[in-house]
Amino acid sequence: MPQQFGDYQYEIYLGGLSGVMPTLPMDFAGLEAKARSALPPSVWSYVAGGAGDEHTQRANVTAFQQWGLVPRMMVGAAQRDLSVDLFGLTLPSPLFMAPVGVIGLCAQDGHGDLATARAAARTGVPMIASTLTVDPLEQVAAEFGDTPGFFQLYTPTDRDLAQSLVHRAEAAGFRGIVVTLDTWITGWRPRDLAASNFPQLRGHALANYTSDPVFRARLAKAPEEDVRATVMEWVSVFGNPLTWDDLAWLRSLTDLPLILKGLCHPEDVRRARDGGVDGIYCSNHGGRQANGGLPALDALPGVVEAADGLPVLFDSGVRSGADVVKALALGATAVGVGRPYAYGLALGGEDGIVHVLRSLLAEADLIMAVDGYRTPADLTAQGALHRIRPTGDA
Ligand SMILES: Cc1cc2nc3c(=O)[nH]c(=O)nc-3n(C[C@H](O)[C@H](O)[C@H](O)COP(=O)(O)O)c2cc1C
Repeated sequence: MPQQFGDYQYEIYLGGLSGVMPTLPMDFAGLEAKARSALPPSVWSYVAGGAGDEHTQRANVTAFQQWGLVPRMMVGAAQRDLSVDLFGLTLPSPLFMAPVGVIGLCAQDGHGDLATARAAARTGVPMIASTLTVDPLEQVAAEFGDTPGFFQLYTPTDRDLAQSLVHRAEAAGFRGIVVTLDTWITGWRPRDLAASNFPQLRGHALANYTSDPVFRARLAKAPEEDVRATVMEWVSVFGNPLTWDDLAWLRSLTDLPLILKGLCHPEDVRRARDGGVDGIYCSNHGGRQANGGLPALDALPGVVEAADGLPVLFDSGVRSGADVVKALALGATAVGVGRPYAYGLALGGEDGIVHVLRSLLAEADLIMAVDGYRTPADLTAQGALHRIRPTGDA
């Protein structure tokens, strides 16, 4: 029996009848406002900020307003089935948690990667764990329970280190490798620049490196004995400006599903397909990397077409259940949430993430119920989405 995610609203209303009021915000605006005061200013600006004047970051969000769902009546969609098949796995919903480096720092106890993994275990919503974690990937994976997890690789310049990270992820039980292509160099981020704040340069979220035998062998002293030298070594290996010639090598690293993140151009999608990847991840990194770009949602239809049946993961700008449904209707196989779960974590730890995920899923499920679509496939097959005339405010 598929989960009826909308039932979360009954839990909340029934709680109210016995005097239990929700303590966490019910929408993104509330989450964002409260998280701002809950997080240390440097962490807040790192998470909330983006590239340039953040136009692309905002456009990612407003792009969803350019689309509207068409309701269908007399469908009787009393039971919905939001489950999806992805890389041979059946997931209870199409939602996943996008990789957020420094998610560790968003938790009040500084172990947000573990809290995120536990929230994945409780909700069935997979976590894509970043290369940049506070706790090593093996400890993160140990918290996944029965929910599959994915490892996101920032490909280092040292190929042996890349191989070591991927093999550790395989050994730890991750079910796929997501290679992020758009961040071999950091984009121009005025908020972080103004505070001269880049967490990794202060030694944060480098546990996967400092716990790695190949990385440690590059150091003259143990990481804890010389943090500065460790950080400088990390700087020297972090960003690999990959080209398509490297894809065969990336593919050879693992038999796990390989997914390329950051693809927005159909031609890039075709090249990725030709290179033997298992999944395409359409994203512009939440507008954190290159300002002046199209909203990721606008790239999605072209990416789906070029993917030609390969699964398409999507993120950037998802703030509500309506956004999740719209991305599915545009052909995404699975939809990633980023900043909202970081804010949930800041406010309520593991429970805060669970609340954010359940709220997104409840809203998505209830929209499908009201609008008469039982499954994600119904949304695409029936052309559920219509373009609204551009308002010019994106
Ligand atoms: C604070 C922060 C850190 C991020 N770190 C990573 C990362 O380590 N690896 C990665 O592939 N993407 C990273 N991303 C990008 C997310 O995976 C995702 O693409 C983005 O959050 C989507 O935009 P949205 O949160 O505005 O919806 C990060 C995003 C944020 C907000």
